[in-house]
Amino acid sequence: MDGNGRWAQQRGLPRTDGHAAGEEALVDTAYGALAAGIETITVYAFSTENWRRPVDEVRYLMGFNESLLKRRRDELHAEGVRITFSGRRDWRVPRRVLKNMEEAEELTKRNKVMTLNMAFNYGGRAEIVDAVRQLVDDGVRADKIDERAIRARLYHPEIPDPDVVIRTSGEYRISNYLLWEIAYSELVFTDVLWPDFRREHLYAAVEEYQQRNRRYGGLEQ
Ligand code: FPP
Repeated sequence: MDGNGRWAQQRGLPRTDGHAAGEEALVDTAYGALAAGIETITVYAFSTENWRRPVDEVRYLMGFNESLLKRRRDELHAEGVRITFSGRRDWRVPRRVLKNMEEAEELTKRNKVMTLNMAFNYGGRAEIVDAVRQLVDDGVRADKIDERAIRARLYHPEIPDPDVVIRTSGEYRISNYLLWEIAYSELVFTDVLWPDFRREHLYAAVEEYQQRNRRYGGLEQ
């Protein structure tokens, strides 16, 4: 969900207003995905690198996660959306925010219509490191370690790898997002800044994906 800061700057507003405007984009995209029958969307809400931002912005984003969940959780639940989080639940995330995240997960855990996975305090490398730590904790012998063993220890092994990754705001980087999971994902880039993103942009990305020819290292089918 990139480009909130620039969207705000263009309007002479504080960066945090860009994040606030990003909520509407998130909600419209999530409901658009639901309407289109998409099974899972994962959104990058806060990265392990975002702690380097000014303390006020970090505080805002933590509080925003909490308030957004409180305000939207019940309606998403009513639509059959399962809310999950990928990321480190470490001491840096305020206890109150963690509690809210766990409540939303608990409330919606049996929902089957769509999964809305929020990557929060998430880093792709950190996820792999955490999976390796888990392997060691589980006492897995070196010759038993394969891709399956690692995948089984990712934050959400039950979520399929994404078909499409959309990066907004005209940046052409992966920025430590879902590194393991995107091995064969199609990448779609758009100049749209996140607060301006709507379901139509999601559908345009899906159409672009449908034109692509996925070979998974094999030959054309
Ligand atoms: C990146 O834009 C965006 C973020 C770091 C936060 C995105 C979060 C939301 C849209 C809302 C949901 C958030 C939570 C916490 C539930 P940027 O600030 O890097 O924009 P820039 O690249 O233009 O500076």
